[in-house]
Amino acid sequence: MTELIKELMPQHVAIIMDGNGRWAKKKGVPRVAGHRAGMEAMKKIVDHSDKLGIKYLTVYAFSTENWKRSMEEVSGIFKLLVTFVNRDLRELIENNVCVKVLGDYSMIPKDSKEALEKTIHDTADNTGLQFNIALNYGARDEIIRSVKSIAARAKAGELEPEDIDEETIARGLWTGEEHAFSPDPELIIRTSGEERLSNFLLWQGAYSEFVFSDELWPDFTPEEYEKCIAEYQSRDRRFGGR
Ligand code: IPE
Ligand code: IPE
Ligand code: MG
Repeated sequence: MTELIKELMPQHVAIIMDGNGRWAKKKGVPRVAGHRAGMEAMKKIVDHSDKLGIKYLTVYAFSTENWKRSMEEVSGIFKLLVTFVNRDLRELIENNVCVKVLGDYSMIPKDSKEALEKTIHDTADNTGLQFNIALNYGARDEIIRSVKSIAARAKAGELEPEDIDEETIARGLWTGEEHAFSPDPELIIRTSGEERLSNFLLWQGAYSEFVFSDELWPDFTPEEYEKCIAEYQSRDRRFGGR
């Protein structure tokens, strides 16, 4: 395995798990089979993050734009999610993993919603890896939500416009204190050779390092993950300083 520097381990890694569809096409199987293989890859990365001592892992599972896909694919993705949380719940609890969701998932199918709620509830007190699943997540959408709540508080006289700062906006995001509190990710990984954000963590990623992997998500292994982290560890982060 790759030599990693313990002191430089990122606290929060976020991953855009892309390429399930192309993986399926390459194998000549339905797209949903690609998502199933992607779910297995995700499971290994959750376990490995925990082993590496990473404190927060955020995965982009379904975007606010992914509703444009066929009903068959969308419902397939949600069914797989239920399978994952139901099948692996006991293990998540044993491994001290705490599951959170970034996004408003109230409109997803009832069984998926219930399975997720049970998992969030049953893992809430766990103190190990915080595993954030970005589901029906869109960065612009979460910024709008935060701004709306700020406007409502200002209108009610609870907040002066001059007092609005970075903290005020960050607090109302899904990664804010009121939801799945997480620090900004030091590292954002995207697989499948695509090099764009696709509406992921626009605010939180202001100073994140980006690492792009050519592997399609179902082929993304813990070894490849370590290579991405090693690449991150070789970067010189300056935050606007010299
Ligand atoms: C990522 O894989 C998973 C989701 C967006 C749900 P894709 O399904 O986008 O795979 P490609 O990009 O079509 O290969
Ligand atoms: C981003 O991937 C969303 C997820 C991985 C869940 P997409 O495949 O939806 O993004 P685009 O369409 O290539 O930008
Ligand atoms: Mg894609």
